[in-house]
Amino acid sequence: MTRKILVTGGAGYIGSHTCVELLNSGYEVVVVDNLYNASEKSLQIVQEITGKNLTFYKADIRDASKMDEIFKKEKNIFGVIHFAGLKAVGESCQIPLTYYDNNVAGTVTLCEVMAKNNCKNIIFSSSATVYGDPHKVPIKEDFPLSATNPYGRTKLMLEEILKDVYTSDNNWNVVLLRYFNPIGAHESGDLGEDPNGIPNNLVPYILQVAVGKLEKVNVFGSDYDTHDGTGVRDYIHVVDLAKGHVSALKKLEPQSGVSVYNLGTGNGYSVLDIVKNMNKAVGRELPFVLAPRRPGDIATCYADSSLAFRELGWRAEFDIERMCVDSWRWQSKHPDGFK
Ligand code: NAD
Ligand code: UD1
Repeated sequence: MTRKILVTGGAGYIGSHTCVELLNSGYEVVVVDNLYNASEKSLQIVQEITGKNLTFYKADIRDASKMDEIFKKEKNIFGVIHFAGLKAVGESCQIPLTYYDNNVAGTVTLCEVMAKNNCKNIIFSSSATVYGDPHKVPIKEDFPLSATNPYGRTKLMLEEILKDVYTSDNNWNVVLLRYFNPIGAHESGDLGEDPNGIPNNLVPYILQVAVGKLEKVNVFGSDYDTHDGTGVRDYIHVVDLAKGHVSALKKLEPQSGVSVYNLGTGNGYSVLDIVKNMNKAVGRELPFVLAPRRPGDIATCYADSSLAFRELGWRAEFDIERMCVDSWRWQSKHPDGFK
């Protein structure tokens, strides 16, 4: 029997790429998204790329009666991959209540509706941000957790909430996936990240410099204790990340309990390494300036993802060169994103 997966936030960046991998792996896909930070066009592209159909509901996960209606209508939803959420660190400091409402209250409502409909399998989008400033690298899943901003706190709280849900009812199976830094795009160049306004994250910012929308890259901090003084991160191709979710579905079997995995490549690249690789992909030197550190940033962050390999048989395949080439293909083909 084909299994039906509900993907919340499925029209967004990671969600849409995950829909492609789910459809390619033979799953039936139902997407719920309120389109706050996405366009329905991404789902059109998903269906074109795969040659398969999915079902889309424009709905908010905080709307319990609508969500209940969807579960009843779809009948046999096997599990939920839960991407829906707000994700901008800076914004979360300005409007924390909106973040707690959308991310925390939204997930509580989602879990209540799931339980009511006897669907107790969930894969949750967590983040490397839950490690705060790690005492060493590579980061393992059992390292101490902390949060330094409201966005990070919503992830940390939700990890705890989902563990409590399992403790109260062992019929739940919970997978917490801690993503490192997703970049890249589908190889077609037709599906990718389409941020609103001026991007906060490094690669979307560089891409807008490359298409001439922004003047130059600001390198935040050149005095970190790293090989070239700039911040080091574990960038992972969004398609590898998407495949990690398909692999994680195998943990949604009875008695699996709560599983936690880092999804990263295990390699650290500095800001200047990324600029150099992007120069190669774009075919010219992109302008940059060394700027002061961004408050709240850490020097180095990369994953030990060996647990995901041992237990899920998953590992990232794409290297940094490919991540930059695919990012550029998307941005150059669609300088205005889905608009
Ligand atoms: P995204 O903004 O592209 O996708 C999130 C989607 O959820 C959007 O389509 C948005 O419209 C939808 N959404 C938001 N609130 C909703 C609600 N209340 N009801 C229904 N839909 C709602 O972001 P993304 O980069 O694809 O991230 C997906 C998840 O992964 C998020 O939970 C994010 O916090 C987490 N994450 C992202 C990154 C990253 O760098 N992109 C890193 C770590 C974790
Ligand atoms: C950010 C979030 C983190 C979230 C992650 C994935 C912050 C403080 N942290 O991580 O919570 O989990 O995204 O969504 O926002 N940089 C520049 N110039 C820029 C932008 C970034 O030099 O214009 C540098 C940063 O200092 C950092 C690196 O590039 O060293 C990566 O930054 P970014 O892409 O924003 O991701 P993170 O800060 O790692």
